[in-house]
Amino acid sequence: MKISIKSSDNIKKMRIAGRLAAEVLEMITPFVQPGISTGELDLMCFKYITEEQKAIPANIGYNGFENTICSSINSVICHGIPDNNKILKNGDILNIDVTVIKDGWHGDTSKMFMVGKCQPHNERLVRVTQECLYKAIEIVKPGIYLGDIGNAIQKHAEQNYYSVVEDYCGHGIGDVYHEEPQILHYGQPKTGLQVQEGMCFTIEPMINQGSKFNKVLSDGWTVETKDGRNSAQWEHTLAVTANGVEVLTRRSEENI
Ligand code: MF3
Ligand code: CO
Ligand code: CO
Repeated sequence: MKISIKSSDNIKKMRIAGRLAAEVLEMITPFVQPGISTGELDLMCFKYITEEQKAIPANIGYNGFENTICSSINSVICHGIPDNNKILKNGDILNIDVTVIKDGWHGDTSKMFMVGKCQPHNERLVRVTQECLYKAIEIVKPGIYLGDIGNAIQKHAEQNYYSVVEDYCGHGIGDVYHEEPQILHYGQPKTGLQVQEGMCFTIEPMINQGSKFNKVLSDGWTVETKDGRNSAQWEHTLAVTANGVEVLTRRSEENI
């Protein structure tokens, strides 16, 4: 088991890739409106990454995935496939997850969008899931345990009567898209690996309104809640610093 420690030169490149990934989400935000299809959003992100950023959309060709973004609506937990026939409607909640490769290094991030006016129960799910991510990021520094991260997320989710998806997790990231370690979004304090300066990983909690169980649809990708209730996810790529953490995929709307 080998966890790579990034040099400051490596992290400089991760910072650039992370910023580009964040900028894709910033670019697409005003277009996420009732009436647009997830296929159209995907094409806009593809063009922006390849033509403006001169970067590579990491999801294309990843284990046979064919698109730039994952677009996961309502009860879809993650890995939703963009589709020109899938039109966003008022009240939908949508996750867009994008990964950019620049100069060989990856930036991976996702955010939730509330399409038009959403029901309070969906707004609350989206907000609490983002709080789960922020509470986890807040505690990251050298010496903490990966179990502390999972516990911070699980505690906040369960205090709000939600469940944590266990079958998908965060991951180390660098010149490889998904590398060790796995970052579980549940766990016990002071268990698992200890975090070290120079580690880069994602935290990307998937939080369900109902039970934690999921099913993968026959397209081989789309992961949906088993009970059909809604799910939310937010993701950032992080670099562990000497005394804390740097959020490499921070958007300008965020105070973190
Ligand atoms: N970006 C996802 C993650 O957070 C992985 C998507 S893989 C894909 O790790 F093939 F579905 F795009
Ligand atoms: Co992602
Ligand atoms: Co990820």
